[in-house]
Amino acid sequence: MQDFEKLGAFYLGRTYDLASGRREDGFVLYDSRDLVTHGVCVGMTGSGKTGLCLSMLEEAAIDGVPVIAVDPKGDLGNLLLTFPDLAPEDFRPWVNQDDARRKGVSVDQFAADEAAKWARGLAEWGQDGARIGRLRAASDFAIYTPGSSAGLPVSMLRSLDAPPPAFMEDRELFAERVTTTATSLLTLAGVGAEPGRSREHTLLTSILTATWAAGRGVDLAGLIQLIQAPPVQRIGVLELESFFPATDRFGLATAFNNLLASPGFDAWLDGEPLDIDRLLYSADGRPRVSILSIAHLGDRERMFFVSLLLNQLLAWMRAQQGTTSLRALFYMDEVFGFFPPVANPPSKTPLLTLLKQGRAFGLGCLLATQNPVDLDYKGLANCGTWWLGRLQTERDKARVLDGLEGALASGGGRFDRAYFDRALSGLSSRVFVMNNVHEDAPAVLESRWAMSYLRGPLTRDQIKVLMGPRKAAAALQATPHAASVPEHPSARPSGPPSRAEGDAGEGADRPVLPAGIAQFFLPVTLARPGAASLCYEPRAVGAGSVGFSDAKLRIDAARTVTVVAAIDARLGSVEWADGTVLDMSAKDLHAEPAAAARFLDVPPAATRARSYDSWAKSFKSWIGQSQTLDLLKSRRTGLVSAPGESERDFRVRLQTAAREQRDEAVEKLRRTYAPKLAALDEKIRRAVQAVDRESAQASQQKLQTAVSMGATVFGALLGRKALSASTLGKATTAARGVGRTMKESQDIERARQTLAAAEQQKAELEAHAQADIDALGGALDPLTETLEPVTLKPKRTDVTVQLVALAWVPVWKDAEGRLTPACR
Ligand SMILES: Nc1ncnc2c1ncn2[C@@H]1O[C@H](COP(=O)(O)OP(=O)(O)O)[C@@H](O)[C@H]1O
Ligand SMILES: [Mg+2]
Repeated sequence: MQDFEKLGAFYLGRTYDLASGRREDGFVLYDSRDLVTHGVCVGMTGSGKTGLCLSMLEEAAIDGVPVIAVDPKGDLGNLLLTFPDLAPEDFRPWVNQDDARRKGVSVDQFAADEAAKWARGLAEWGQDGARIGRLRAASDFAIYTPGSSAGLPVSMLRSLDAPPPAFMEDRELFAERVTTTATSLLTLAGVGAEPGRSREHTLLTSILTATWAAGRGVDLAGLIQLIQAPPVQRIGVLELESFFPATDRFGLATAFNNLLASPGFDAWLDGEPLDIDRLLYSADGRPRVSILSIAHLGDRERMFFVSLLLNQLLAWMRAQQGTTSLRALFYMDEVFGFFPPVANPPSKTPLLTLLKQGRAFGLGCLLATQNPVDLDYKGLANCGTWWLGRLQTERDKARVLDGLEGALASGGGRFDRAYFDRALSGLSSRVFVMNNVHEDAPAVLESRWAMSYLRGPLTRDQIKVLMGPRKAAAALQATPHAASVPEHPSARPSGPPSRAEGDAGEGADRPVLPAGIAQFFLPVTLARPGAASLCYEPRAVGAGSVGFSDAKLRIDAARTVTVVAAIDARLGSVEWADGTVLDMSAKDLHAEPAAAARFLDVPPAATRARSYDSWAKSFKSWIGQSQTLDLLKSRRTGLVSAPGESERDFRVRLQTAAREQRDEAVEKLRRTYAPKLAALDEKIRRAVQAVDRESAQASQQKLQTAVSMGATVFGALLGRKALSASTLGKATTAARGVGRTMKESQDIERARQTLAAAEQQKAELEAHAQADIDALGGALDPLTETLEPVTLKPKRTDVTVQLVALAWVPVWKDAEGRLTPACR
């Protein structure tokens, strides 16, 4: 593993010398944390934007950072064309056959050529098949195709769910969500509607506000009904009927109905809902790269989908804890039309909010476009890194400069227009000027060779081939699951099986029990089979709560326990351990039967109030013994899972925590080594000067080599940030001013020794740094780390019994006297 992969640095390419038009040796490494202030990549078609951005996504994937990428053009699917063996037969199905024909070679030959080209290209950039293997292993790559069955399906319209409660508490965010959803729905239905101006928009926002505030989601069919019979009677101060009469509303309902009835619309309803957490992490917590391909959609549909996605992303983001590390990456290729400066399409507001707030939550956004005039300047000002590639015309260049100048000025940054003007004129493809607000100076780089095979846009059939096996696997998994929905444990009739229905006599009327014995009814939740009648069986019910606390683990959790158990007619006892734990609390129990019913006989013990006291005691001790809180502990991070947190969610959380710890550790290393290195370089500089004094020529070259970090350990650790601030600049100027006053050769000898010693020290420092970096470990450990089980038991004082009473459990009794449960 290259050092920079452990350090969370993204390998973007090598430095490039504009004057000579040559690539240099130094790696251009980008601190992944800088991406939380977002990036924008601008350049004409063919300038290498997508290649650069795809490489960045590859770096993110290798580092275990999950990615959601929106693909309006279709070439992001190339991320799935990764072949660690670099064998011609791997390339064969994916090469562009027209290209082969044009070149006059067979497809086989062309595939072999392409494979060789990729192997060569990677080698030139210090990469190999093994790195591709790591990339493939690090993340789970998938292509989703909303509204089409080619890739993985994703349902867009199942996604009009109510936002999570935490999100709704923020009134501004909630209002934003309502507005953009209304606009995107109207856009989709082809009803042009300006937020705040049209009554269609106002009506939809009223409907969405009312339903979501009540915690309910909507689907399109539901929406059509709600338009005709809105849940609100007034809009502002106007009566609904005078504001937007029913006859007119019918027109709007029809527009949505037409949409629903249009051919191919089913595909919009299929698939899993747009769930950001699931797009970012697999079922076992592995990071994912989810490509959302929208190339096949019309403009209106694209807009609808992208705004829904951005809204979901925003809601997901707001539910995360803050972090300073890069938690996830959102990439959008060819953002033209979604984030315009003047117009206000529904995608704009949520994207702007993401750019403004993403940093706090570790969500980095990366946008690519051909011209910055396509982008809102407020948004641009929120992008910390700019990659500027080759531009078509002088006018485009002037616009890019204006954009960058404006963005940097509003961020308080410096802007050397003359430098950028010159730099931008000399760019060839794959060469970019990078301006990163976290660094002292801009840099020019040539993008590294992409590990993915950049064959260009994937066809529908190719996406099908890529995603086919996955869809088949998903279908296989879904079928047996649906066929054998596991019976809820409490669906079985409660009580020991030996107790046949004939055991207790059946009294038709509800038995009269002494006052002071509380009685409850379990709700009927299972449908009546045929003509069965309702019966109630007597049981004991216990409800209580149990707390778990551990100061060291900072756990303070409580849980309610509700159990229904049989009453032994002979012994008059209740075995709580044999009872059924119910998924409800005491307040879900009913005071009255669901309907007229027959009642089975009550065991004598249950008619005595005393019995309940002793059952309450046994209930309390049963809770104390049986209830545990089972958690997982990660030794590596010291974190413990939260009550109710699944192993998958815990592992997802651990990955962010591990990344934060890694980033912190790297920062510490930087702080340790940067001054030491600077001091040594200064020493070397003086020594070189002393040695060189006699030869009169201040050897800049020698100095450069002596203190250059290029591809060394320090280059990886300290990167350009340190390089630009290092002693290099000072050293060269100082060297020029050296006088020629060296007299004694002894001094020279001494200077030589000093130089050798300093260089030796530097080598030692480097070895130390290497050892420290080796000790950091990989970012993906939390996925494979064996988690320790931690089991908390309640203290006796943490058990509270709320009630122990007689429970009437409903059962269905058919004509033959067979009993089936009426309650889960
Ligand atoms: N990092 C890269 N590695 C290998 N080839 C690249 C890379 N970047 C660009 N290319 C080549 O250049 C072509 C154009 O680059 P691309 O990134 O698609 O340009 P843009 O997105 O700016 O239109 C690609 O099809 C590919 O052949
Ligand atoms: Mg492109």
